[in-house]
Amino acid sequence: MALEKILVVGKDIETQQLARPFTKQLFSADDIHDIWETIDHVEPHLVVFDPNVPHDHICSFLKKSKKRSLLIPSIAIGTQQEQSSNGDSLLDLGIFDCLQGKDPKLLGKVIDRIKAIAADNNSGDNDFFSDHCPPSVRMVGTSPAINRSIEMMRLVAQSSCNPVLIVGETGTGKELAAQAVHTIRHGSDAKFVAVNCAALTANLLESELFGHVKGSFTSADREKIGLLELAGEGTIFLDEISEMPLELQAKLLRVLQEKIFRKVGGIKDILCKATIIASSNRNLLKEVDEGRFRRDLYYRLSICPITLAPLRSEDRSDDILLLAQYFIKNSTICPEKTGKIKGLTKLAAENLKKHLWPGNVRELRNVIERAIMLEKSDKIGLTNLHIHPEQFMEASASAASAPTRDFSLERAEKELVAKALDEAGWQKTRAAAMLGITRATLYAKVKQYNIQAPQTKVAVTA
Ligand SMILES: Nc1ncnc2c1ncn2[C@@H]1O[C@H](COP(=O)(O)OP(=O)(O)OP(=O)(O)O)[C@@H](O)[C@H]1O
Ligand SMILES: [Mg+2]
Repeated sequence: MALEKILVVGKDIETQQLARPFTKQLFSADDIHDIWETIDHVEPHLVVFDPNVPHDHICSFLKKSKKRSLLIPSIAIGTQQEQSSNGDSLLDLGIFDCLQGKDPKLLGKVIDRIKAIAADNNSGDNDFFSDHCPPSVRMVGTSPAINRSIEMMRLVAQSSCNPVLIVGETGTGKELAAQAVHTIRHGSDAKFVAVNCAALTANLLESELFGHVKGSFTSADREKIGLLELAGEGTIFLDEISEMPLELQAKLLRVLQEKIFRKVGGIKDILCKATIIASSNRNLLKEVDEGRFRRDLYYRLSICPITLAPLRSEDRSDDILLLAQYFIKNSTICPEKTGKIKGLTKLAAENLKKHLWPGNVRELRNVIERAIMLEKSDKIGLTNLHIHPEQFMEASASAASAPTRDFSLERAEKELVAKALDEAGWQKTRAAAMLGITRATLYAKVKQYNIQAPQTKVAVTA
């Protein structure tokens, strides 16, 4: 079997002829300068350098590949393994092999080794990932919807689009997508700092993002570097951007437009070099219409939004069983059962497919982890799948004729928050703990949904 795509770098015709029999598609790049565009476009399975490509150029290719977490094997033809001018050795930098001469037999042997390693890697988890998914991205799914999202992630990451917006319901994989965009753009070694805009009060969030100078407010007893600065040339991830207070939204807009900001209480302009990725599980346009989100910020953010479809949507539901299998194979709670549980019974699989998954991949993962823990046989059965029966697709199908039935997540969230507050006797700390959120988030949700304490309700209705 030939390697699907080989890219030959350099103008040497003999090297191109040498590589041709080993591939279905041969590509060439004249030199190292136009190699990256070809790599991003073609995604070769092997890069071959001809003898005329300078050793230092190959070194810089290998270093950049590592930085970008690219796992494409490369071979240098006719290059000795000697060190480059600054002491770098190609093998140390990760070249797969260096061949002394243009010998088809030798090249064939090296390609066989590359294929054997690839087959070995593929025998594990690779069925879970789409062909469009770069090796550095671990997003399970082969459905049309996830393919579209991954394609968008790649396009955005390879462009210089900044800021990047990721939208989708809770648990659809927005944080995973943000990390993927970061890794494709900056490599896995670069800094990725995340901040949840719903989890902090306005003042704290401001000093967290921008930093503050000493004495700028009562408890500012020393200077603080903000996350925008800390992210350096990596990525800052603003999770749940819709929860950012309006006055901070204005400050963020300035950063996005002018790429500069000031610490709280500071007078020095600081340059922001980081990629800014924001995520939201709310409909931001609706937030704009309702006056909770700045329209100008919305337009600035949504240049090329990456959308993650809910699991129940028709073009993503094929991923449900694939994800379930993946979580069975990669259990984090019960790793000792990995390999013992082989899959799901037919009935269990059918029921997973029927469920609406309001919590999306996160909910699916939790359901599977719990089932793994409870299951004693080698297949997860229906009895150990704890899914809320009211949320089955069948229920929604019968509800289709009754449009008043409200399946919206917002409604469910509002009810849950109200219920927790009720049970906690309106003690916010207790209610927040029951919901697994911070007090600040709880306050934000109470305000957002206009949830009122019982005595207030009486007063209003009286
Ligand atoms: N395609 C996927 N493949 C594998 N795991 C996934 C995938 N999508 C999401 N997950 C897992 O599901 C969980 C939730 O994902 P993530 O935190 O990225 O969701 P989210 O959209 O940011 O949710 P929220 O809006 O609630 O913050 C994580 O454990 C994540 O690893
Ligand atoms: Mg998230």
